[in-house]
Amino acid sequence: MPEFFNSEFNSESQLLRHSVTQKKMNQIKIFCPATVANLSCGFDVLGLCLEGIGDEMIIRKSEQKGLRITKITGADLPLETEKNVAGVAGMALLNHLDLEFGFEIEIHKNIKAGSGIGSSSASAAGIVVGINEILGNPLSRKELISFAMVGEFLASGSYHADNVAPAILGGFTLVRGYDPLEVIKINSPKDIYLTIIHPHIEVKTSEARTILPKEIPLKTAITQWGNLGGFISGLYTEDYGLMSRCLQDVVAEPYRKNLIPEFDTIKIIALENGALGCGISGSGPSIFAMSKGKDTAENVGNQMKQIYTKTGIGFDVYVSKVCDMGVKVV
Ligand code: HSE
Repeated sequence: MPEFFNSEFNSESQLLRHSVTQKKMNQIKIFCPATVANLSCGFDVLGLCLEGIGDEMIIRKSEQKGLRITKITGADLPLETEKNVAGVAGMALLNHLDLEFGFEIEIHKNIKAGSGIGSSSASAAGIVVGINEILGNPLSRKELISFAMVGEFLASGSYHADNVAPAILGGFTLVRGYDPLEVIKINSPKDIYLTIIHPHIEVKTSEARTILPKEIPLKTAITQWGNLGGFISGLYTEDYGLMSRCLQDVVAEPYRKNLIPEFDTIKIIALENGALGCGISGSGPSIFAMSKGKDTAENVGNQMKQIYTKTGIGFDVYVSKVCDMGVKVV
């Protein structure tokens, strides 16, 4: 179990945790949002929550201890708890809570696995928030992040939180540190819109991570952390010019872009049509463009469609605001 696992627990939630003896409700239906991680300059630390794109999950209390997945629609994923992202994340939370009862879950996937918009993290975030809601929220949303990361580890072989943090907290989030885990929710300017193109090819996060160099030159690191600091500053001061200058990735994009057909063309067209920046969403193959205003974001989406139609590869295009809520009860 990683060091960060028990970080950020406070005495208040510890007390609440031990008072979880009774059900607050028997069943809950939740919406588990898609996310964009990395955001060019924040590899493994920066992410945002999308609006209207996501999975649904039904979680019901059961007398039998543990967690059983009774149904999955929309994706060919394992029903075995220990092989399923939601299953292992949920069990990590249940092992911590040590309850006398258990849960059954139905997962209805809309976010395709390997799409780059946080399919695994939607499941991992959804189950921990859902169980916590049924129990009357003994843990804070921030405290739930480390449990959801167990699901991310199963999916990718890496304990990163840049998708699960915005899925749980909503808005823009920054992982300030992993050891111990510290996540900060960042100001989210209201005019920011995302355009996402999801080419229908699969890029496994685990594979997209193995192609990255284990070490980077100091010059590269200086460029990346300058841009990350600048981007965070731009979000707080709502300085769109600064945000735009900072949306660059010199760490992962040079390697990963080769996995995504027409990445360079999409990026050029997005920037020519007024996007503040454009990069790989998570580990790809989805590409995001960030714009000021919905009209620009929609125009960028139309331009992206024209490029991708010529490739013969199926695709979806979404335009979304940044959602401030994260996983929500529906
Ligand atoms: N930060 C992660 C990566 C996001 O880029 O590998 C994908 O889960």
